[in-house]
Amino acid sequence: MTDGIYQPVPDSYFDIDNATKENGFTMPSDILTCSLLRTLATSKPAGKFLELGTGTGLSTSWILDGMDNDSTIISLDNDETLLQIARTFLGQDKRLDLVQSDGEEWIKSNKGQKFDYIFADTWHGKYLLLDEVLEMISKGGFYIVDDMLPQPNWPEGHQEKAINFVKYLENRSDLVVTKQHWATGIIIAVKK
Ligand SMILES: C[S@@+](CC[C@H](N)C(=O)[O-])C[C@H]1O[C@@H](n2cnc3c(N)ncnc32)[C@H](O)[C@@H]1O
Repeated sequence: MTDGIYQPVPDSYFDIDNATKENGFTMPSDILTCSLLRTLATSKPAGKFLELGTGTGLSTSWILDGMDNDSTIISLDNDETLLQIARTFLGQDKRLDLVQSDGEEWIKSNKGQKFDYIFADTWHGKYLLLDEVLEMISKGGFYIVDDMLPQPNWPEGHQEKAINFVKYLENRSDLVVTKQHWATGIIIAVKK
């Protein structure tokens, strides 16, 4: 077995990838992670999805590709320039609600909502307001994060933060957690 992805990539993926490179965005989700996100998305028919950290919509395009027609996704980012790229290539998809908001503000005003699948790809819902976001996962729902393997650009102190974050997830009695040393380092947790 190799890491190759031999299934078709989402229609808009290469357009978004080109626009992302032109924009110079430095934090795009990698394609292996995206492929896993799509596979997991397909396991939640009629699911309610949440993505924290849209960026330019790379991961969003893969999640949408895995979702069925009865599913919906809210994806948010605080950077309108990045969101504009996602809007250009994905905005016509009626299942998608692209929201420009600060993560903290959005989470605090949407505490009552429940989701079957959360991809937490920004500070909030990962290193900030973690309990609030874990509370939003439905029973049997996924909580997914990437970028957990050490990276050369991590600022001083970030590795310790990451270690504590993983320990915290592993100690939660309401989560079943798997860590993967693959792609950028993935954690998949399911809510009991
Ligand atoms: C790792 S990137 C997301 C990558 C994206 N999922 C992709 O597929 O390329 C993290 C994102 O978090 C956003 N972000 C940073 N601070 C934020 C905040 N306070 N509220 C909302 N989004 C924020 C950044 O603009 C950036 O797009």
